[in-house]
Amino acid sequence: MRLILLGAPGAGKGTQAQFIREYYGIPQISTGDMLRTAVQAGTPLGLAAKQVMESGGLVSDEIIIGLVRDRIQAADCAKGFLFDGFPRTLPQAEALKKAGVALDVVVEFQVPDEDIIERLSGRRIHLNSGRVYHVRHSPPRTPDRDDVTGEPLIQREDDRTDIIRKRLAVYHAQTSLLVAYYSDWATSGETQAPRLIQVDGTRPVEEVRQVLRAQLGA
Ligand code: AP5
Ligand code: ZN
Repeated sequence: MRLILLGAPGAGKGTQAQFIREYYGIPQISTGDMLRTAVQAGTPLGLAAKQVMESGGLVSDEIIIGLVRDRIQAADCAKGFLFDGFPRTLPQAEALKKAGVALDVVVEFQVPDEDIIERLSGRRIHLNSGRVYHVRHSPPRTPDRDDVTGEPLIQREDDRTDIIRKRLAVYHAQTSLLVAYYSDWATSGETQAPRLIQVDGTRPVEEVRQVLRAQLGA
């Protein structure tokens, strides 16, 4: 199974990815998580990406396409994978298509901007695993500690209100175009076209998961 999760910052991509990757036994390829790990480790990639990410902009298509190209060649991707936060621009989507990567499903989580600030300002993450919590909607069992490892949770640098607004603007200007791109492809009649599933992401986490399960036939 090969899927793409599309949606605004805070729409719930990482949250629902946790159940999808476990259900299908496929890796979650989150370009955001990969970049944050590189920033943390201080690698050349991390140094190149740090400022762009902290300002809410997009890392260059060239860097991202190279990163994903390498990642999907790894052995654990043989059974499929789940893209979370990729592609994010038309050139990224075109590069994926040109590479001949056969996709099964594109999921779009629909959440209005008004809900996003509250979600992202209450978000806490476990950096090493990418597990996502929310102080009210999905609290960890012990405050500010990861449920699995007990390690501390952190707040992302880009989850500040001014940066969230910038990320939303970038989403509307660039990434939201991909919804029409995949919708046109899905209705083109091409046999290679992935199915587009559009989900109301404003429902509680468990409800979104149930709707998605039903739509995926999972
Ligand atoms: P990335 O890490 O991909 O961030 P994002 O797209 O902005 O998405 P988020 O991770 O903020 O949101 P999410 O949809 O995963 O929401 P979550 O499930 O955590 O990218 C970060 C940066 O890296 C980018 O800005 C860019 O600079 C760079 N980058 C990454 N990929 C790139 C690419 N392809 N090209 C160029 N640059 C790239 O949920 C959010 C919160 O809401 C959580 O607290 C959660 O608990 C809560 N929540 C989730 N679902 C619900 C629900 N149904 N009800 C209530 N609360 C909920
Ligand atoms: Zn995420």
